[in-house]
Amino acid sequence: MHPYIHHDSQQYFAFNIWSIESAKAVMDGAAALNSDVILQTSMKAYELLDKKELRAFVSSYADKIGIHAYLHLDHCKRLDFIKEAIHYGWDSVMIDASDLPLNENIRLTRIVCDNAKSRNVLVEAEVGQIAGQEDALSVTTEGIAKIEDVELFLENTSIDMLAVAVGTAHGLYKGTPLLHYDLIDKVVHLSDIPLVIHGGTGLTEETFSHLLSYRNIKKINISTDVKLSYRQGIEESIDNGYLLREGFDPLKIHKKIHDAIMDMTVTKLKILREE
Ligand code: 13P
Repeated sequence: MHPYIHHDSQQYFAFNIWSIESAKAVMDGAAALNSDVILQTSMKAYELLDKKELRAFVSSYADKIGIHAYLHLDHCKRLDFIKEAIHYGWDSVMIDASDLPLNENIRLTRIVCDNAKSRNVLVEAEVGQIAGQEDALSVTTEGIAKIEDVELFLENTSIDMLAVAVGTAHGLYKGTPLLHYDLIDKVVHLSDIPLVIHGGTGLTEETFSHLLSYRNIKKINISTDVKLSYRQGIEESIDNGYLLREGFDPLKIHKKIHDAIMDMTVTKLKILREE
């Protein structure tokens, strides 16, 4: 099996990045704790990125700072992008066909597995539908995966990681999310497939700890918090006068943004230490 989920006990946060700078800030946070980390690119970010150069940077910089950093393609609906990301050396890819009927989700996931396995690339897929930021969230059961669907999906694909919709959502929570731990219990009972939790931004430390107490949960995704940290860096730069016409200072702005992303990364990765 690929090193990324090789160690039985290893659990990761995966941070969305969109540039070499954001990747570096997350990696510096990971290096501060001597942690390995997953960097992931949304489909939109992936499309805009210089793939070969990002791959080269992540490998070379991880080597320099002495950590493992893995590159993952998040929520991808396009098979051509997945194929290309595999070609460029992404360590794992997510085929997200969760909006399609289950049999179609299975069919597309199998195509991706066929392609990825020969290159030693891990495949993540989604069952159920993880809600987006526009949804009202606190008590929703809509989109929560059905255990029969999970079973059928696992029987018919050879995925390495399962993103199972358990009540978390992407973006900022409007209420307190109701997580369906009963579903996690059932999935864990059914299979030892590594699980991925999406929608990590806004979950409390208690919730993270509860989730991480399931050893099958191997990856928790954080995107909005990376963007909010970027924003915080800009706000602090404004407060410090770095954006004034006189005294405008790109290096100081860059450092504020870098440090905000790095600090957030450290805060999240420390939670893994407490487990
Ligand atoms: P958040 O934006 O809520 O952190 O979700 C991230 C995510 O799950 C990306 O796939």
